[in-house]
Amino acid sequence: MENTPFDIHNPVSLKELACEAATCTRCALSRTRTQAVFSDGNPKASVMLIGEGPGQQEDETGVPFVGRAGQLLTQILSSVGIDRKQDIYICNTVKCRPPQNRKPEPEEMSACFPYLEGQIYWVKPKLILLAGATAVQDVLKTKQGITRIRGQWFDTPFGAKAMPIFHPSYLLRNPSKEKGTPKWLMWQDIKEVRRVMEEMGIPVSGEMHPLAAK
Ligand code: URA
Repeated sequence: MENTPFDIHNPVSLKELACEAATCTRCALSRTRTQAVFSDGNPKASVMLIGEGPGQQEDETGVPFVGRAGQLLTQILSSVGIDRKQDIYICNTVKCRPPQNRKPEPEEMSACFPYLEGQIYWVKPKLILLAGATAVQDVLKTKQGITRIRGQWFDTPFGAKAMPIFHPSYLLRNPSKEKGTPKWLMWQDIKEVRRVMEEMGIPVSGEMHPLAAK
């Protein structure tokens, strides 16, 4: 596999970076993918969400977070008025589906990291949401457990503040909404995201769901 580093400032646009990803062979995931899954949402958004990697439906459609976990993510965002097409830019640590939805290997993540760096460089988010431990490791370079660090804001080398949040697939496996459960904690975190967006003057398209306003 060729693994030549490329200068993220060299592609002249985000579009060119996406074209580069579409034909990428920097790691073995390129051999089993249907297509690279680059992003969804608004490249001009001030908020970026980074997940782990494409699943089967994402691999088939070319769009991140469209399967069950993605549908839950869309609902969570819209519960505080964040529209996934308007208010946020969505991508993953790796752009190609790991077979059987396994976690990406460290060498796959590092081969793909220049794309993520490029996306951050071009989108210039003010806030980054890191969905799940893989995204946290990739961006914050820490192995601290997500349960311990979720809901807190961290500085990043990219200038943006980043908040670790639970991955929506973890919430699908833990559906209780009782106080203190992962779903309840996610609810607190996403409300905090909306609060900080408002504080920073970042536009949010929708209203808070009446229950979220409490
Ligand atoms: N899970 C992720 O982490 N990313 C996707 O795009 C879909 C599911």
